[in-house]
Amino acid sequence: MRFTITTVSALGFILAVVQTAPTGPPPTASSVQRIIGGTKVNGRAYPFAAVLNIVVPGGVALCGGSLIADNYILTAAHCITDEQSGAPTSASAVVAGLGSNNVEKAELYQASKISVHPGFDTMSLANDVALVQLKKSAKLDDNTQIVKLTDSKIKDNQVLQAIGWGKVSNAGSVSDDLRQVNITVGPTSKCREAEPDFKDQSGPTICAAKNDNHDTCQGDSGGALVYSDGKSFQLAGLTSYGFTPGSTSTACGTSSVVAFYTRPAYFADWISKTTGIKKDTLLA
Ligand SMILES: *[C@@H]1O[C@H](CO)[C@@H](O)[C@H](O)[C@H]1NC(C)=O
Repeated sequence: MRFTITTVSALGFILAVVQTAPTGPPPTASSVQRIIGGTKVNGRAYPFAAVLNIVVPGGVALCGGSLIADNYILTAAHCITDEQSGAPTSASAVVAGLGSNNVEKAELYQASKISVHPGFDTMSLANDVALVQLKKSAKLDDNTQIVKLTDSKIKDNQVLQAIGWGKVSNAGSVSDDLRQVNITVGPTSKCREAEPDFKDQSGPTICAAKNDNHDTCQGDSGGALVYSDGKSFQLAGLTSYGFTPGSTSTACGTSSVVAFYTRPAYFADWISKTTGIKKDTLLA
């Protein structure tokens, strides 16, 4: 997982990063991801980017999300479920920030309902997708916009942009400002070696396995993997998890990390059913 929890004061980080509280058991979700090797986003280039603050035992977890309707944010299920039981987080514990790249300046929206994909598995992180319904619809303007899910075929060697507020280095802290990094998709062969269930880039996940020094990391979970058709940005993936095959290392950004992103278009039927929004409207 690529999310981080910080101590309670930090209302306003985007990607899920869990930092151990000074006393008591560590917070859940120890491996959220943040942008490594990226750059600050100039201007509000990704006006659909949402930061999620999730109150958890011992702190506040940070995750990313994307506004897909004026009252729905799409994110990773592992951001808003109990790590052990898989039970959805209470909506009262979730606040979304919209309208700014800076977590301190984002406009806050209280969640009213959390919907987690029924097939989400806390162990394998299969079906890592969830919806946050907002109590009040977001006001859409230049800084706050809806993103459509891409149904374009994503292929090996394609370059997509991951965005998030997560850790900027393995030892570092989360970022107050939204950052982006280029992620090269594939190769599928290496993804299959790491995750035998992985078939290709058109299934439930997109996989990136050759991004030395360019990666998502703790705090980036749930945030967008962005596709551009040259005219607009579309949502291709949700930052989910990464690991080094054959190792217990949780480091991000090394040459051996294989990272997986939930592919939202694969889940368009569930998203449509859960939100009541037509699939045609959700897809680009
Ligand atoms: C990121 O990818 C885009 C599109 O492929 C490219 O134009 C840009 O130069 C890349 N940026 C970096 C820093 O590599």
